[in-house]
Amino acid sequence: MTGSNPTGDGAISLPAEIINAVRWAEHVVVLTGAGVSAESGVPTFRDAQTGLWATYKPEDLASVAAYRATPKLVWDWYAWRRELVTQAQPNAAHLALTAMQDIYTNFTLITQNVDGLHQRAGSHDVLELHGNLFRYKCLLCDQPATVDEWRHRSDVPACIHCGGAVRPDIVWFGEMLPSRPLAAAQFATRHCDLFLAIGTSSVVFPAAGLPLLAMEKGALVIEINPSETDLSDSAQFSIHDKAGAVLPALVHAKRNPN
Ligand code: APR
Repeated sequence: MTGSNPTGDGAISLPAEIINAVRWAEHVVVLTGAGVSAESGVPTFRDAQTGLWATYKPEDLASVAAYRATPKLVWDWYAWRRELVTQAQPNAAHLALTAMQDIYTNFTLITQNVDGLHQRAGSHDVLELHGNLFRYKCLLCDQPATVDEWRHRSDVPACIHCGGAVRPDIVWFGEMLPSRPLAAAQFATRHCDLFLAIGTSSVVFPAAGLPLLAMEKGALVIEINPSETDLSDSAQFSIHDKAGAVLPALVHAKRNPN
């Protein structure tokens, strides 16, 4: 386990092994979870829900069964989350990852987040394993749906192709992940030499299996999370600090080799 030592000027100092790994890596893969958006004010998944939604658990809302039973409730929950995220700004962690994408010739960003903050920070080709709050599709025919096309109804919008209910294009509990982003994430993970697992509790598979796959293929795995997780004991390094503090320090180390 590795703590980061504050240097007093707001920066943090990290062990030489981590600094060298960041400097010499040739193919970097990053997996982010809700913790990377925490410093933007977006509650993480395992944070208690707040306000009107305090009495609900995500597991009770993010499922096909819940949408079929209470479509308007689920639709309003996602509308609340979209509004929350729209008010949020990318934080130093998102911006550092955008910088990394420019620094490393071979860089893959995989996210479990659906908030689109990586893209708003300037990251591109983001592999979204769990979908995106700002994309929609039909519950029945799976066709993409857009707000300018769908038919408005009193509870939830209707698909223009089949009349089915429009739903968020988000992977719900019990659903398969989109095959293309998952295959691309697994391919990159198999071929990287440095894997950063950032802001994830590492409890939801298959995403949580990616750092383990990286380790199996010989990559160095560094976790960045203020708390202990299921990954902490197996990662070569676990930096118990905030992503918004650690990631800029890693970018600084890479940009200043001596
Ligand atoms: N920097 C880094 N990590 C942080 C920070 C921070 N500033 N703040 C919190 N964290 C960590 C927490 O300690 C926690 O381990 O972020 C992690 C967030 O964990 P979860 O809330 O479980 O979110 P995540 O890992 O992304 O969940 C994975 O589970 O519910 C499903 O589909 C959902 O994508 C989600 C998946």
